[in-house]
Amino acid sequence: MIYLDNSATTALDEAVLEEMLPWLRSEYGNASSIYAMGRTARVAVERARSEIAALMNAHPAEITFTSGGTESNNSILTSACRESGLVDRVVVGSIEHHAVLAPAEELARQGFAHAILPVDAHGRYSPEEARRYDDPRTLLSVMHANNETGVIQAIEEIRAAAPSALLHTDAVQTFGKISVDAQQLGIDFATISAHKIHGPKGIGAMFIRKGIDYKAHQVGGGQERNRRAGTEPVALIVGFAAAARRSVECMQERAAHMRQLIEHARQSISTTIPNVRVNTPEAHSLPHILNISFPDAAQLDGESILQLMDIRGIAVSNGSACVSGSLQPSHVLSAMGRSAAESRAAVRLSASWTTTRTDIDTAVDALATIMRDLRG
Ligand SMILES: Cc1ncc(COP(=O)(O)O)c(C=O)c1O
Repeated sequence: MIYLDNSATTALDEAVLEEMLPWLRSEYGNASSIYAMGRTARVAVERARSEIAALMNAHPAEITFTSGGTESNNSILTSACRESGLVDRVVVGSIEHHAVLAPAEELARQGFAHAILPVDAHGRYSPEEARRYDDPRTLLSVMHANNETGVIQAIEEIRAAAPSALLHTDAVQTFGKISVDAQQLGIDFATISAHKIHGPKGIGAMFIRKGIDYKAHQVGGGQERNRRAGTEPVALIVGFAAAARRSVECMQERAAHMRQLIEHARQSISTTIPNVRVNTPEAHSLPHILNISFPDAAQLDGESILQLMDIRGIAVSNGSACVSGSLQPSHVLSAMGRSAAESRAAVRLSASWTTTRTDIDTAVDALATIMRDLRG
């Protein structure tokens, strides 16, 4: 099995699992309990919070644990409009993850003003376009980097163009891979998740800048300083901090390794597969993602590319895992101006620091054979 779908999820790091185990076995206290077992769990949760905060240049009070990126995005958008009443309008980028697009659409149905920020053919948002939404009663939600193409957005420039808007960035694909510095980016809200960086699934966090009067979207308990009700999953929180620490500590060398592999894949694909379009630019892109599509896709059955790769034991994706399996074209490639057929037949390779050059060579060979066969 060759796993090249690390943007969808990653393997749990063994060392992370080791740090989690005591909190699943003997240390099972509730972090809200006042007796010793509870206090021990509370110390672990607060240590993890401080660690994650420090890794993104934030204050521990600015970090609220959630069940992952989907919940963080939903909660931030919905609370900003409804529970916290901070804004009347939500403006989201056209290539955001569905966990941003769907709550924004729901808020529009509920009567909040709604607008979409377009991207150019390279999948980049324009700060000039963002300037139109510079208004203190607007929440602007633009992802730090895209999960399908790996394109990194100019968040600092967008912030400079719209200084009075509330700014949220979905940093699920960037946290632990490239620097996510809340002060430098100038963001008010951010979303991060553990399972993209070899941490456990089901845990993520929201960064909420100090001073923002944030009211919980999920209610029913006073946990997380009244910002997110629910018993804290101590083992997952400890695992999140362990994965984040290990990712940030080794960020430079892991990024260099992944970028080398992705550049190797880019070269090999361009030389061995005719009529291919690379949707991931060399500059302003994450080190671990390569997205390609086929301009002659109308003559191909796009879905079968992934199935034929799977039969050969190679896991790749055609974009967001949430829409895989359905025949929906990628909304990201469509927003970049690709045809529906091309947007359906894309292939995304996403590496991890454990990926080898042999993995890449085997995958590219398989893809070249499959494309030759499909093209008859
Ligand atoms: C950019 C982005 N945002 C949000 C999510 C959802 O995160 P989670 O799986 O932690 O709910 C993902 C996961 O695919 C993602 O890539």
